Amino acid sequence: RRRIIIDTDPGVDDAAAIFLALASPELDLAGISVVAGNVGLAASVKNACKLVALAGRRDVPVYAGAAGPLIRDQVFGKYAHIGSFADTLVPETDHGPQAVSSVRFIAEEALKAASKGRRITICAIGPLTNIALALRLAPNVAQGIERIVMMGGAFASLGHRTPWSEFNVHADPHAAEIVWNSGVPLVLMPLDVTFQALFTEEDFRGFEAKGSPCGSALAALLRTYDRSDIKRFGRPGGAIHDAMTIAWLLQPDLFSGKEMAIGVTLCGPTAGQTWADFYGKSDRRPNALVMSGVDERGYRELVVERIAGLALT
Ligand code: BDR
Ligand code: CA
Repeated sequence: RRRIIIDTDPGVDDAAAIFLALASPELDLAGISVVAGNVGLAASVKNACKLVALAGRRDVPVYAGAAGPLIRDQVFGKYAHIGSFADTLVPETDHGPQAVSSVRFIAEEALKAASKGRRITICAIGPLTNIALALRLAPNVAQGIERIVMMGGAFASLGHRTPWSEFNVHADPHAAEIVWNSGVPLVLMPLDVTFQALFTEEDFRGFEAKGSPCGSALAALLRTYDRSDIKRFGRPGGAIHDAMTIAWLLQPDLFSGKEMAIGVTLCGPTAGQTWADFYGKSDRRPNALVMSGVDERGYRELVVERIAGLALT
């Protein structure tokens, strides 16, 4: 079983990623480290605790991390992720976070793994603030991380948070700069690939089909924060960006992509813009496996089937 940490800012599609990981026996979820992003830190932590409690998995610890980005002014997600999840959608819980911060948790997990000759995998589905800080905490942290699988960036596809940027990078570009240049192998799911798989009402009914409380909550969240955009995609449906990082760990064959150098613009009017050397034009060494294609049906089926079977009684 692969030991993973999910670093997250739940977030509706973060909820799908967390549920998919909890529904996957191939993965050993060491903990959920929360970062401010879509919503403020307190609401993100609350949301994460509600999700693990609903899944009957209070044994998976939740940690609270950075309350804001390293350098830039704080920005939050828009339309889809306002505030904490309503109790009518995801039930209230008394479950709370650990006393230790996300940053220390990530660093210590990595150092512990490295001391045993092992390495952990991090699924990064929010701004990279926690991970950048953890990498700065001790010189050997990077050596304990096998790979970071991140949802973020937009290359040939256009940005969605601003015309030129994707939210997770836009919200903390300096953290992305640190993590992307840390030497830790990176797999990236940019908007270019996440917008290729659109979930519709048929999938929402699939989440509910077996009576899973988690499947029902996710369907309710997706319906409430409807992200279908026929104008943009030419067909109905909304993306579930973050779950692609977990899906890649489970079934990498669903995806296609290639190694290339990537980077982020840190200042000026287009700060947060990401670039990728698709054609090998620079002399920079590849620092990421950038995904550009997905088997849409295979991805949707994996996500729906697994989450539909989570926490059945
Ligand atoms: C990313 O930003 C957030 O809105 C989502 O949770 C996802 O992680 C998509 O750009
Ligand atoms: Ca997210």
